[in-house]
Amino acid sequence: MDSTVDSITQDDKVKTLSDIPGPKPKFILGNIADFSMASIHKYVAKIAQEYGSISLIKIGPKPFVIISNPDTLRSILKQRPDKFSRISTIATVFESMGLLGLFSSEGEAWKRQRQLVMPGFKPALIKAFYPTMVETSHKLSGVISRSLSDEGVNTPFNIQLLFKKFTTDITTKLAFGGDFDCLQADDTELQICLKEIMPMIDSRLKSPFPLWRYIKLPKDYAVDRAIKTVKRHLKDFIESAKVNLVAEAEPSNILESMILASDDGGNGFTEDELFGNAMTLMLAGEDTTSNTLAWTVHYLAKDLALQEEVYQEIKFNLSGGVPTWEELEKFPLTYACLQEAMRIKPVVPFMSAETLQDSVIEGYSVPQGTPLMLLINYEGHNEETFPHPDKFDPKRWLELPQDTIKSNEKASMPFGGGARICPGRALSIIEMKAALITVMSEFKFTHHNGVSTTQESVEFTLVPKNLNVNIYRRAPK
Ligand code: HEM
Repeated sequence: MDSTVDSITQDDKVKTLSDIPGPKPKFILGNIADFSMASIHKYVAKIAQEYGSISLIKIGPKPFVIISNPDTLRSILKQRPDKFSRISTIATVFESMGLLGLFSSEGEAWKRQRQLVMPGFKPALIKAFYPTMVETSHKLSGVISRSLSDEGVNTPFNIQLLFKKFTTDITTKLAFGGDFDCLQADDTELQICLKEIMPMIDSRLKSPFPLWRYIKLPKDYAVDRAIKTVKRHLKDFIESAKVNLVAEAEPSNILESMILASDDGGNGFTEDELFGNAMTLMLAGEDTTSNTLAWTVHYLAKDLALQEEVYQEIKFNLSGGVPTWEELEKFPLTYACLQEAMRIKPVVPFMSAETLQDSVIEGYSVPQGTPLMLLINYEGHNEETFPHPDKFDPKRWLELPQDTIKSNEKASMPFGGGARICPGRALSIIEMKAALITVMSEFKFTHHNGVSTTQESVEFTLVPKNLNVNIYRRAPK
């Protein structure tokens, strides 16, 4: 049993929740007036800094235990799904929208789903899918290219939105087996539906009271209609995936892999679970990847000397417009920029969990059902592990011995940890490399008017808002 997290026994002499240090809560409101939801990540990090590795805030009357000690975090993450779960509002909200997928399931249901989903992330399947990433990366640079003036400039350019279209196209091909072509097409029926569904998940997760369970407003009916439409489209995608599977035998995307798993011995996915998981992949894979790319561009636009060094690496190693599968490992500095962006601006700065049984955490008794905030990135800002932690310094990932780099990767924890660690981590790194290398090989970017107006906001993920860049075509190689 771990020393920092334990189950409670009769003779445990432990302190209680009310002994956990934290800011004084106000009557009924708790600490809610001290922060806005958009900057909650900064608030909880500040509380951890002030009160130590375990602290407590109240949101309304409800206590939330904040944990920042990396050993305690790892121990909690490892003991899922049996002793800790995701915060229960996640299952409530996802279920309210019919999204019965991996991210929101718990216990035995999660174990079964994880087993069925994981084959879709096998390296061989990612490799088989890579030509689709290449094609989509070509489209990405084509869209930028066509947007430039005769002088080869576009300003101000919303590169965050473009990356979002890029990752949406990749993820829909992976999870639905269909091409939405967000990069080139105007709003299609499916795109409009997804735009309706995704923000609603965020807004229900943040809602202090689940009003939608008792009264349906027009926006709730609109979401129900959008879900019905997406389900109808997915049914068509599943039918053509089945035809494809008969012809090809090997799956070429996650949907096909999940369909194969469904046929496997009667314990497979139901149609609703297939839908839930396709939507889960959209939700988990789209904004995380596009916002990490956007944060990377934000920092490279600020440091033009570094951008030039990355460009030189790309120019030297890239044979065509988009890296080939074999070339992907040839860009250590470019990859280090992505790693550093994930450390300094992790798109998931903390995760919410819940105790499934009475537990002792760092000597405090924490009753079953207590919400926890797990600051998975806290260590990523530790001065000792990452000197000058507020500096975007990708070279820190190149200059250390391999062992230290591996342990620093673990310390920075952008993909979570334990049994529920992000299954899309390898895929997203390949996707981000393909996009960044392709864009940087052709274009240069600076902040609009030379000044960064980027602000950060938590909207399910950590988003760089108002990231406006000037984008310029580079002279041909
Ligand atoms: C930069 C990109 C990404 C980041 C930073 C990221 C981060 C995360 C994090 C922090 C978690 C929670 C892990 C935990 O509970 O320990 C997670 C879970 C998950 N991610 Fe990712 N992710 C990324 C990309 C993707 C992609 C591309 C996909 C799939 C297409 C994906 C699919 C999932 C799924 C299905 C889960 C739930 C796993 C489970 O509960 O068992 N992610 N991700």
